[in-house]
Amino acid sequence: MKTLTILGSTGSIGTNTLDVVRRNRHLYQVYALVAGANIDLLTSQIQEFQPRVAVVATLEGLTRLNESLAASGLARNQWPELLAGDQARVQVVRAPEVDTVISAIVGVAGLEATYEAVCLGKRVGLANKEVLVSGGSLVMEAVRKYGAELLPVDSEHNGAHQCLRAGNRAQVSKLILTASGGPFRCTPRENLAFVTPGQALNHPTWRMGNRITIDCATLMNKGFEVIEACWLFDLAPSQVDVVIHPQSTVHAMIEFSDGSVLAQVSATDMRMPIQYALTYPDRCDAPVPKIDWAQGRQWEFLPPDYSKFPLLKLAYQCQEAGGSATCILNAADEIAVEAFLQGRIGFLAIYEIVQETLARMPAKTPRTIGDILEIDRGSRVLARELATARAAGTVTA
Ligand SMILES: NC(=O)c1ccc[n+]([C@@H]2O[C@H](COP(=O)([O-])OP(=O)(O)OC[C@H]3O[C@@H](n4cnc5c(N)ncnc54)[C@H](OP(=O)(O)O)[C@@H]3O)[C@@H](O)[C@H]2O)c1
Repeated sequence: MKTLTILGSTGSIGTNTLDVVRRNRHLYQVYALVAGANIDLLTSQIQEFQPRVAVVATLEGLTRLNESLAASGLARNQWPELLAGDQARVQVVRAPEVDTVISAIVGVAGLEATYEAVCLGKRVGLANKEVLVSGGSLVMEAVRKYGAELLPVDSEHNGAHQCLRAGNRAQVSKLILTASGGPFRCTPRENLAFVTPGQALNHPTWRMGNRITIDCATLMNKGFEVIEACWLFDLAPSQVDVVIHPQSTVHAMIEFSDGSVLAQVSATDMRMPIQYALTYPDRCDAPVPKIDWAQGRQWEFLPPDYSKFPLLKLAYQCQEAGGSATCILNAADEIAVEAFLQGRIGFLAIYEIVQETLARMPAKTPRTIGDILEIDRGSRVLARELATARAAGTVTA
């Protein structure tokens, strides 16, 4: 029986994780559910999974959670301990009962707790890609030092992890990450200036949280995945290729030195990689559709258009640059995506804000998680100023 803390239980990955738990009650129990502000969903998750602790982002959220649990009729003696804030997230990872942490908070808010889990040598199912994008060097150093098991949940990295089991790591020449191409794959570049948040949120193959969905539309998400892959598999950026594969069925491929390529293929359903991270090195039945090979199908593989989606190229450059560059990239992108979703800036301004934040933030070498959070904060302040200037029309996108 594995005991889990789920960071981001109310999100897309979190709810899929709980579905895996729901179907395998004999294998998993939930110690803590950690959410942000979705109190209604957290309340129903508490009723169903009966965690020992529930954590929300703020004290205001804690008050609402108290009220919601009281209204739910759940007997007081069945309430979990209720906590709020950054330190509470770390506390529920630290609990000795917890052996496995699913890291599925969006953004850098999940960094400290995930790092703590790694430093305690726990198994971490890593969905939160911002952890490695912002703090890859420190996190991987801790993985090695404390012997943590970092298992990728991101479908592409999970696919690569599976392919790598078939060969010798020293004989790997390339990792190929596939990308659906997002909703604007066939949109002419000149039309991108006018696309709306609604159009950008309409991902062709995956249903995910808002930020990652917009990042898929700009291909920033694929750039983050390149960075994540470099850290996870100890590869140089030049060893990680991106290929557009609109069907999202081949998730990743590994090319070995003799030119042989192994691919991981499965349905577009995150419950498979989530379950893999929980059961590894074993496998068990997953509640995902199997591919029906009796049906005819065509798979396409196309090169990405770096001039139309410049954030992908920028991600390679930031990983090459090292130091604080990828942390700034992530922070600026998060703010720019937020401004785009609020309708304050246009789609193309996302790139401009990220690029300008990178150009203006001083390059540093973060040595602690505190340094990373400091760089993240500074980058956000600057990116927010740049977004406000664009929203006010002082700068036109
Ligand atoms: N969805 C996918 O298929 C997928 C695939 C690969 C990788 N990922 C990565 O996995 C992570 C989660 O993605 P998602 O799609 O599940 O995002 P999502 O649906 O937006 O969920 C994000 C989760 O983070 C929580 N959260 C946000 N801020 C928080 C804070 N300050 N404190 C505590 N919790 C906070 C949210 O809580 P509330 O909703 O309660 O506010 C929610 O539970 C991202 O890093 C994403 O890039 C996702």
